[in-house]
Amino acid sequence: MSTTLDFDRYDRIRPIRWTGDSLELLDQRKLPFVVEYVTCADSDAVAEAIHALTVRGAPAIGIAAAWGVVLAARSVEAANGNDAATKLEPALQRLNAARPTAVNLAWALARMRRVLVTAGADWRDVLDREAQAIADEDLAANRRMGALGAALIEPRSGVLTHCNTGSLATAGFGTALGVIRAGVAEGRIDKVFAGETRPWLQGARLTVWELQQDGISPTLIADSAASHLMKSGDVQWVVVGADRICANGDTANKIGTYQLAIAARHHGLKFMVVAPSSTVDMETPSGDAIHIEERDPGELFAVGGVRTAAQDVGAWNPVFDVTPHELIDAIVTERGVIERPDAAAMKVAFGS
Ligand code: MRU
Repeated sequence: MSTTLDFDRYDRIRPIRWTGDSLELLDQRKLPFVVEYVTCADSDAVAEAIHALTVRGAPAIGIAAAWGVVLAARSVEAANGNDAATKLEPALQRLNAARPTAVNLAWALARMRRVLVTAGADWRDVLDREAQAIADEDLAANRRMGALGAALIEPRSGVLTHCNTGSLATAGFGTALGVIRAGVAEGRIDKVFAGETRPWLQGARLTVWELQQDGISPTLIADSAASHLMKSGDVQWVVVGADRICANGDTANKIGTYQLAIAARHHGLKFMVVAPSSTVDMETPSGDAIHIEERDPGELFAVGGVRTAAQDVGAWNPVFDVTPHELIDAIVTERGVIERPDAAAMKVAFGS
């Protein structure tokens, strides 16, 4: 079962726009109530936008950072790429420090550095082309993963997803949400459930809005309703994205993913991770070595600016967790599907 997907219908949102002079970011702090692009005129503005979640999602922050390097280049005079690389390094470091967990950020900056050091007098054009290539390759990878991931899902299935892994989190189409888009288009998926994703509500605000643009009507659930939903028999797959996939297949993703994987295994459901190869980090042996971002505890005290927690309470706000590879049935990248991932299977797929 496969159809040629109508990408004009299923892939219209673009969170990152390069104008030639500046970077425009669809402000994900305000969606879905305000649809507004903010303009970043320099690389520090891009770093701040990444840190503040104006742009978010592992592939999207890598792409934004690559354009941040292009912006940084505007204020540097250099005779060749190697000279420029030295002068640009402080800006690259500030971009890299914006968020710690998604490896796509460091990966994109490493790509920009790599092309720069061998570039000649045309080093600015080389940077422009590389940033565009990073974005173009991400879109192509997502479309490929959509087909590969959807093929794993039996017709008329229900799926549960977490956070936002769609066009908003990527160059377009999305990772887990790309699989869901393809699965719906092919008739494999007839029910989509989206967890709210407290505290930032990427599911309730972003995933629901994105799917609605495509004419797909998801059912929103409280994060705490997931096990009860699984027990009902209405879902067969949990499909999520990733911020970093380690050499043994352990996967960091939005906080709450780990408990979904545990509950899925308990209920006999399948668990799929969908991410481009830019999210694979073969240098990190296992999930224990991943730096998990902890954000301001204040994010837990209020919803939409209205305080919901009692006064004078302390809070802990880790925003990612690690799903051990034993709980993952399939990792889908644009290079193919790794079933029951472990260190050996990862090595075959990605080398050492
Ligand atoms: O904090 P966020 O919103 O950047 O977290 C995003 C996620 O955890 C996504 O699931 C992940 O980046 C994959 S996006 C294709």
